Amino acid sequence: MKISVIGTGYVGLVSGTCFAETGVDVVCVDVDQRKIDMLNNGQIPIYEPGLDDIYKRNVEKGRLKFTTGLADSLQDTEAVFIAVGTPPDEDGSADLKYVLAVAREIGQNMDHYMVVATKSTVPVGTSVKVKEAILEELKKRKVDIPFDVASNPEFLKEGSAVEDFLRPDRIVIGTESEKAQKVMKRLYKPFLLNGHPILFMDITSAEMTKYAANSMLATRISFINDIANLCEIMGADIDAVRKGIGSDPRIGNKFLYPGTGYGGSCFPKDVQALIRTADEHGHSLDILKAVEKVNDRQKSVLFHKIYSHFNGDLKGRRFALWGLAFKPKTDDMREAPSLVVIEKLLQAGATVTAYDPVAMDEARRILGDKITFAKDEYEACIDADGLVLITEWPEFRLPNFKVLERLLKDKLIFDGRNIYDPSELQELSFTYYPIGRKSVKS
Ligand code: UDX
Repeated sequence: MKISVIGTGYVGLVSGTCFAETGVDVVCVDVDQRKIDMLNNGQIPIYEPGLDDIYKRNVEKGRLKFTTGLADSLQDTEAVFIAVGTPPDEDGSADLKYVLAVAREIGQNMDHYMVVATKSTVPVGTSVKVKEAILEELKKRKVDIPFDVASNPEFLKEGSAVEDFLRPDRIVIGTESEKAQKVMKRLYKPFLLNGHPILFMDITSAEMTKYAANSMLATRISFINDIANLCEIMGADIDAVRKGIGSDPRIGNKFLYPGTGYGGSCFPKDVQALIRTADEHGHSLDILKAVEKVNDRQKSVLFHKIYSHFNGDLKGRRFALWGLAFKPKTDDMREAPSLVVIEKLLQAGATVTAYDPVAMDEARRILGDKITFAKDEYEACIDADGLVLITEWPEFRLPNFKVLERLLKDKLIFDGRNIYDPSELQELSFTYYPIGRKSVKS
């Protein structure tokens, strides 16, 4: 079997590589020559645990290829996956220009039946536009080549994308034809040996499923963050409350961790896009509007704790910041809460020395010399007025507090992810500010 994957971002690269792992021939296409050159020279442009191994193995086997030539990639292909970006445009709706340009190019070059499956997260109704774009191009060429469109949303998480792809909870596919179902079933069967389902549905429902899933998850996070803030006011402990509610199987204990707000390339964009789609169709998604508002506010919560600890006097102070990526195991800093905390600290006249296990290059690219970068987490703390933890990387979980005591000017920690034990820090006479729990004063 042979497939093409258009777009070598997170979704495209992980999907293409993992499909190749099952023995399928995969051609990955991107317009970015630099990216393709890197991939043809053994370099992966993103950091994703486990990807390197599978990539190398399948490139060596000759099953995984990279090119800028979309037209050539279509030769003998049974399915094309569109996995190009859909950045939000000014009004928050997803910009479809890349998706539709790819659809057109497919229409201009296809010469046999294929399934054109959209993997990018696209607004409800996009597959119809993809179909129209292809049909228009076929018409221009005056040819009648059969094809099917499908919506195949991707639910993988950054940091565990390979694992998620190889062992999915479910595969969602929206199609209009049995022929397309057959192709997709063959492709995905090897990933569903664990008995998890492949869910076929109509195209609009598949497109909606992706947005509804991400919006539901974002809602859980804003909900728990809002309750965490109330816990602080009332003297309750969000960690106990989280466990208390999470033991009810109807609620479940996953994805209920309070923090500094959700970031990343999906939740902020998808929540915004769904609000927008609903508004355009005369329906106000009031819950999601609140989810967004709460999340914006949450990104500043840690800064407010710092500000009030120092009674607003942050001029000339320097803070050690641990974790820049929007979550562990990725170098992605899109919509990262760290950016908000850094911006606010700088505005207040403070300086920041940061460390992140993998996102330092990305941070340098975004922040330039606005902040300084340390070679490790301890170096960041030398003579700092306090430590601010933003991303819960495993290696930050058990630091040597004795060393921190020696390095920091003041035994002071602001923990945006509740990874430390307040009673341990109390014993060590640290001042400790978690989220939604009582702070500890030395
Ligand atoms: C998300 C979805 O999980 C995935 O299914 C979809 O395909 C893309 O969007 P991702 O953005 O990679 O994946 O990250 P995820 O692990 O879901 O975390 C998103 C954000 O929520 C992060 O900023 C994370 O820190 C935050 N989060 C997550 C919380 O604040 N609390 C939680 O309990 C869980």
